[in-house]
Amino acid sequence: MTDAATTRPAVPLAGVIGNPIGQSRSPLMHKHWLQRYGLRGDYVPLQVREGDLDAVIRALPRMGFVGANVTIPHKTAVLRIADHVSDRAAAIGAANTLIFRDDGSIHADNTDGYGFMANLRAGAPDWDPRGGPAVVLGAGGAARAILVALADAGVPQIFLANRTRNKADGLRAEFGDHIKVVDWTEVSVALPQANLLINTTSLGMTGQPPLHIDLDTLQPHATVTDIVYAPLQTPLLSAAAARGCVTVDGLGMLLHQGVPGFEHWFGRRPEVDDALRAAVLV
Ligand code: ATR
Repeated sequence: MTDAATTRPAVPLAGVIGNPIGQSRSPLMHKHWLQRYGLRGDYVPLQVREGDLDAVIRALPRMGFVGANVTIPHKTAVLRIADHVSDRAAAIGAANTLIFRDDGSIHADNTDGYGFMANLRAGAPDWDPRGGPAVVLGAGGAARAILVALADAGVPQIFLANRTRNKADGLRAEFGDHIKVVDWTEVSVALPQANLLINTTSLGMTGQPPLHIDLDTLQPHATVTDIVYAPLQTPLLSAAAARGCVTVDGLGMLLHQGVPGFEHWFGRRPEVDDALRAAVLV
């Protein structure tokens, strides 16, 4: 806890802490919402080195900050700095949202799983979490948040495939027996049962290698989503759409994960709509 309680600033500030930070679209998103709702406040990118993280976060409330988002590489380190860590953030092992309370305490939460699920429900309203297994590609930080969100939503079984198999085995040991690990090269074996297919890897992103996956056995009633949003229409989503699957692009996950923080900091629950999508895609 900081040594003095803070008074709520006249112009509340928030920002996104990362390193590097120039690529973050969060400032575009939050500034769009502030302007749209005519709210006083600002949201800025904050490039912070690892060694400075603790001091910077403790200084922010005294500078008028009511909270912050946290991105790579600080999402795990902030758990040690926060006075209170939500159950979700603790389960995921990372936080992306900080709230600086008036009593000077720092609260850490993780809204990535919320963002994933809100995006999925908006883009695929007919998807039924209890309608069958999900196939998850990847076992990094994004996968952790998504695995927790899927379990919370009641998805009965998850087939998890990762290039480095022991990371997937580790997630199974941590999160439970509803996860079945399949070899990265044999993921197509799990596809016929999939009610949902999710790419949580960086494959398919502009500048990254393509994701090679044969969708021939994927049922057309399956929903397919990708956390990659550059390009919006990834080769995975194109191939799935060609099979008749409902597809959900990854931009909405980024947009929805920002909603709870904005509401806390600026007092209004913002909407995720086409105007926002256009604002962050400039
Ligand atoms: P994030 O926080 O975005 O999930 P991450 O923790 O670095 O990022 O995880 C990246 C994921 O993409 C991992 O599952 C990684 O697989 P490994 O665990 O084997 O590294 C996956 N990934 C990245 N590049 C890949 C590639 N060329 N082929 C297959 N998987 C890849």
